[in-house]
Amino acid sequence: MAKQIASKSNKIELGLLTSSSFNLLLTTKYKDSKKIVIVDENTEQECWPFLLTTFEALSDAEVILLPSGEENKVMEVCFQVWEAFTNYHIQRNDLVINLGGGVVTDMGGFIASVYKRGIDFINIPTTLLSMVDASVGGKTGINLGAHKNQLGVFSAPELTVCDPSFLHTLEPKELLSGKAEMIKHGLIASASLFNDLLKDKNEIPSEKLIEAAIQIKSDIVDRDYKEQGERKKLNFGHTIGHSIEGYLLEKGVEITHGECVAWGMLVESYLSYEFAGLTEKELETIETFIRKTYPELTIDESEFGNLIHLMRHDKKNQGDKINFTLLNAIGESTVDYQLEEEQIVEALNDVFK
Ligand SMILES: NC(=O)c1ccc[n+]([C@@H]2O[C@H](COP(=O)([O-])OP(=O)(O)OC[C@H]3O[C@@H](n4cnc5c(N)ncnc54)[C@H](O)[C@@H]3O)[C@@H](O)[C@H]2O)c1
Ligand SMILES: [Zn+2]
Repeated sequence: MAKQIASKSNKIELGLLTSSSFNLLLTTKYKDSKKIVIVDENTEQECWPFLLTTFEALSDAEVILLPSGEENKVMEVCFQVWEAFTNYHIQRNDLVINLGGGVVTDMGGFIASVYKRGIDFINIPTTLLSMVDASVGGKTGINLGAHKNQLGVFSAPELTVCDPSFLHTLEPKELLSGKAEMIKHGLIASASLFNDLLKDKNEIPSEKLIEAAIQIKSDIVDRDYKEQGERKKLNFGHTIGHSIEGYLLEKGVEITHGECVAWGMLVESYLSYEFAGLTEKELETIETFIRKTYPELTIDESEFGNLIHLMRHDKKNQGDKINFTLLNAIGESTVDYQLEEEQIVEALNDVFK
């Protein structure tokens, strides 16, 4: 049987989809509901055929194909899907199944949550990143222009099933992207997860490590669903990481979210050493791990101003200073450090010198 992850705000199962409560839900609660499966080109090819041939209840499901990629996580695409829902006469008691990475689960969750004031949806995340992060925690949303996740609602799926067997077709760089969020979960809340990841030589992390990473996110979300305090810990690595991501995307450089977060975590570990009590030895361990796991990234000193400019636009800031979550130790973090531009530039120099 798929394993139930302890969670107050979400029903999450980890293990084979066929051993989860997915089929039971389809054949009982949603027996008379229309099923709409949302996929992108890759999950239509790599994941949907398995579901179609395995679950009888999906034989007459409608399939909606979204264009893959972050640039398509936008309102224009949502409008088209809502129009399709209307054409298919989708009603309040029907069911949306999001089969894909974070783009599909974020956008599909949003589409379902506002259509007719909300219809039920199930998440079947198919990337490591969406298993350990995007589809846990009830945040759905889309981008507005250059602003990430600017439109969205908190809305929990009826069920999330994380089946690691979908990960075998995922590109290595996407596995590394998800791994960055797992490292983050270890760094902010569990030294033992971080140490296990340090030792792990597998390209696809074991189910035990995936479970630990999901559990950390789920526990934090349970304690602070609406991000009033502790949930901000999950932003570790992201103040710098998002600025690197935004800057490189503007330049047309292709890079995954997780890779930017990995470098963001390294810069923020330097800040943690300087301002939050992380020891030199811990910093060294983190640095060696990140440099060995992720391809080298060069950012010229002359570009630091651009990064700072992007950080200033972050919705988490107050006044002139920039907001960070920092590590007090590996496995322990504190939110809401307010730092000055010069302090950040120094840490950028330490990493990208
Ligand atoms: N809601 C949240 O709390 C939250 C948290 C973290 C990230 N996110 C969002 O998640 C998104 C990133 O998610 P992602 O990294 O999963 O990106 P993604 O959905 O773009 O997937 C990455 C790539 O993998 C492909 N793919 C997916 N599953 C596959 C499979 N099994 N085999 C082969 N290819 C497959 C996709 O088509 C895509 O090309 C971002 O939009 C981010 O904002 C949301
Ligand atoms: Zn992230």
